Amino acid sequence: MVASIADTLLDWYHSHARDLPWRARPGTPAPDPYRVWLSEVMLQQTTVAAVKSYFAAFTARWPTVSDLAAADEADVMAAWAGLGYYSRARNLVKAARAVAERGGFPDSEAALRELPGLGAYTAAAVAAIAFGRRAVVVDANVERVVARLFAIADPLPGARKTIRRRTDEITPQHRAGDFAQAMMDLGATVCTARDPRCLLCPLSDRCNGRREGDPARLPVKAPKKAKPQRKGIAWWVERDGSVWLVTREGTGMLGGMRALPDDGWSARADGKGGAGKGEILGAVRHGFTHFDLDLSVVRAAQPQGTGEWWPLDRLEEAGLPTLFAKAARLALAAKP
Ligand code: ADE
Repeated sequence: MVASIADTLLDWYHSHARDLPWRARPGTPAPDPYRVWLSEVMLQQTTVAAVKSYFAAFTARWPTVSDLAAADEADVMAAWAGLGYYSRARNLVKAARAVAERGGFPDSEAALRELPGLGAYTAAAVAAIAFGRRAVVVDANVERVVARLFAIADPLPGARKTIRRRTDEITPQHRAGDFAQAMMDLGATVCTARDPRCLLCPLSDRCNGRREGDPARLPVKAPKKAKPQRKGIAWWVERDGSVWLVTREGTGMLGGMRALPDDGWSARADGKGGAGKGEILGAVRHGFTHFDLDLSVVRAAQPQGTGEWWPLDRLEEAGLPTLFAKAARLALAAKP
């Protein structure tokens, strides 16, 4: 009898699983749901390499979900600085509080989905990896593996429904968590986006994408829309070895994060301008998901908005998101 795709892949995973700090070895008891959930939230839109140091810092400072629930949201936002997509950090605190209140993580996909910020992917991943539930886990790596395995040539995002159905068909009843992570590891290390290493792939003899001759063309992606280019200004106000920092309002772009004061740029519009009011120190570019920003850094004399003087020699601890960390580096290098 021919082994199923799941059995073949689990066999491969047994000797090829990546050793990751939030992970249990293949076939061993499930890891702490808190660590699984935290890692899955961090890993969305971010690479394993970028996440490792944040995961270590978070679990050292907040070893349990109750510790995180008791944390000051501002401290969590600052510790998240650099990982991007800051609404994830705000929701992290909300979800930790909800979990602490109910006395632990729910153990089903449907109940996990009710927690703040837990989307379909995270709920399925935590249910499978931390609780051994059968759940269909589809991230970008799984999407690529499945699109190739079944030679699904419809472009993304339209192909997602078919990819999900195919993933469901090959997901086993048992060890769904190991299976999901095996798919992710295969996608990350063998079935890679540009140069798939088919000679090393345990599924190569049943891969339709390979049989057709050019697996790297899959999944097909709809052409990307050009991103708008926005302009803005950040103000650098320095006095007695400190710089003026504000905390951004609300839940929008970089909301709740410490920042340099700026001229109100957004995804939809340029900022108000006013660079003539001070010395232009230079500009930094930053790519957001839906737009690119050209941010001029201008030295100003007067602090603006509600904020605080932050000592320059402790600027690392301010938790500036990457855009403003870049602007601060530029201003410090331009120091007279
Ligand atoms: N990417 C997202 N979650 C992951 C996991 N659990 N293992 C490996 N890569 C991942």
